[in-house]
Amino acid sequence: MKMTTADPVTMALFHAALRRDLARARALLGAPGGLSVRRRRRLGRHLLWMMTQLRWHHEGEDHGLWPLLLERDPDSWAVLEEMEREHEAIDGPMLQLEEASRGLVAGRAHPRDVLAALDALEPPLVAHLEHEERAGLPIVRRVLTHEEWQAFERREWIEGYTVPDTLRFLRWICDGVQERDLLGRGLGVAGPLRPMLGSLAGSARVPGLTVWAGTPAARMGSPLGMALREGVAP
Ligand SMILES: [Fe+2]
Ligand SMILES: [Fe+2]
Repeated sequence: MKMTTADPVTMALFHAALRRDLARARALLGAPGGLSVRRRRRLGRHLLWMMTQLRWHHEGEDHGLWPLLLERDPDSWAVLEEMEREHEAIDGPMLQLEEASRGLVAGRAHPRDVLAALDALEPPLVAHLEHEERAGLPIVRRVLTHEEWQAFERREWIEGYTVPDTLRFLRWICDGVQERDLLGRGLGVAGPLRPMLGSLAGSARVPGLTVWAGTPAARMGSPLGMALREGVAP
């Protein structure tokens, strides 16, 4: 059987989706004229959902990925410890954003509370994503085959999801992505579903589907990081 190098494209797409929606949330919260109560509630719920996804992402890395990489490459311990420490440092600002988002849904927080929480979260989170793409993903590509990477993804990030959960997640990571030919790669999506992924790229503009629809934020694309441009792309 032909062994292929790990292609962690889903990690790059996940990171890009986080950066994209942090920017979109800022655009919405700072919009002249403010937000309707309905949109505030939707935004709060979306940010809460996103923080849950980020928590699963971190737990999968801390409990599943770093130990696997350490076993294959003991010399990578210092980088992997940095990754874990950075996750810990992001935890407090995540809680702050969740609290502000719950307040936005319940009508007891102001959009500026959410902006303040974003100010606390964004710098350490974005720095961590960049660090992981620069120092962590090269280890993944060096020591794992693509089959092993996909087994890790299934175990830590996919199993237990229902079909609606999976579709919501796929729609979210594909939103705003232009490199449509990359969307079917390594996403663990069955062949017949792959043509659908391209159409998910414009889903933010579909009325009723996202909190961004009908606002300039819906046109903000996904800032694919260096992880997708270097090493992953053919
Ligand atoms: Fe990550
Ligand atoms: Fe991470």
